[in-house]
Amino acid sequence: MKYSILSKRILHEFNQIRNLSQSKRLVLGIESTFDDSAAAVIDEDGKVLGESIKSQMLEHKITGGVHPVTAMKLHEVNLPLVVDDVMDKAGIDFQDLSAVATATQPGSALSLQAGLIFSKQLVAKHRLPFIPVHHMEAHALTVRSIEEVNFPFLVLLASGGHCLLCLAQNLGNYKILGQILDEPPGAVFDKVAREIVKYLPPEYCSTTSGGRIIEALAKKGDSLKHPFSIPLTGHTKTVRSRSCNFSFSGLQSQVLRKIAILRERNELDIVTCQDVAASFQKAAIQHITNQLHRGIIFCQIRNLSQPSPILVLSGGVAANSCLRESVLNICNKMNTKLICPPIHLCTDNGIMIAWAGMEYLKQGIGISEDPENVRYEPRSPLGDYIGNEIIKENIKLPKVKVSWKRHI
Ligand code: KG4
Ligand code: ZN
Repeated sequence: MKYSILSKRILHEFNQIRNLSQSKRLVLGIESTFDDSAAAVIDEDGKVLGESIKSQMLEHKITGGVHPVTAMKLHEVNLPLVVDDVMDKAGIDFQDLSAVATATQPGSALSLQAGLIFSKQLVAKHRLPFIPVHHMEAHALTVRSIEEVNFPFLVLLASGGHCLLCLAQNLGNYKILGQILDEPPGAVFDKVAREIVKYLPPEYCSTTSGGRIIEALAKKGDSLKHPFSIPLTGHTKTVRSRSCNFSFSGLQSQVLRKIAILRERNELDIVTCQDVAASFQKAAIQHITNQLHRGIIFCQIRNLSQPSPILVLSGGVAANSCLRESVLNICNKMNTKLICPPIHLCTDNGIMIAWAGMEYLKQGIGISEDPENVRYEPRSPLGDYIGNEIIKENIKLPKVKVSWKRHI
């Protein structure tokens, strides 16, 4: 990402006009990359003046997945509502804002489009500076709104839409160590949960996310009952390469096959469902922690991390307490400090977009010179992929003792 001197000049002129030098700068953040319409106002110290989010989960439950056109139409209705709501909560006027920041990449095209059209109208109407934000960068930076975390630091993001291990080196400067090769973990938790709840009493078919249903079932299940193979650890040539990439669709097929077999044998009851959930969760978590472990070793070999490395764990799947425990175990072994932001900052939200915008505003970079011509980008890597260098190192993981008890 490159920013010209013009960015700084636009900002300077804007600040002079608004005479904002006396008060703390405020940024309005707008998020609509997928199925949540969210907004927040944050100040330069990370204080949240107002936040609001409208989930589309209920609407999409009816269609059994996120329908892009429905999502776009819901964003068109919801974005003005959440923005009005945060402005009310913050008790400010648009003229009090220093900038509007909007997630313009990556994400679902029609959802991004709805957010961008709305934001362009907003900044044109109120003559505000506009900062396009990368959704994944916002996830990576959020932690800095609540505590001092200096670059470089590692970020592990696991959610319904992504799975990524990266090294944050500076604003706009990220190295991708591992990326998702197929289905993201949250999507697979959701799919497995959808299949399992069919065989459970109605109280399990709640509006809560699939990941939470699996975690709740797994707590009472036997994680050793079904030894699903851990992704990317096999011995065929294609999967032997020792990378930090993530893959969950093979695991998903194994689990769905197991459910089908149990159903045919008429053995699907609450206990067998708990065992499947626990065994699936164990395999998914072991895969994530394996790839993370290799990434931390690689950074140490190449001297890429700080003397006391930091790992930030985020994304909706990071709400899983077994994952947190397992990641903490690896971090302790590798002398790495683990930071888990509070759950409401791990999932998609407006605060993270507002904060990312604020980080750029403080540096005086990233402000659009021509908001009218900003484009959204559904596919947009956060940085350079250095996975091939990791594979070349051929890092064999040292054994880590994990006590996967009967009930994990
Ligand atoms: O970051 P997020 O809110 O948004 C999207 O990526 O869309 O992540 C939502 C995902 C869902 O797939 C949900 O099933 C998963 O995070 N999730 C969990 C847990 N809580 C939410 N996965 C595993 N364990 C959990 N406790
Ligand atoms: Zn996200």
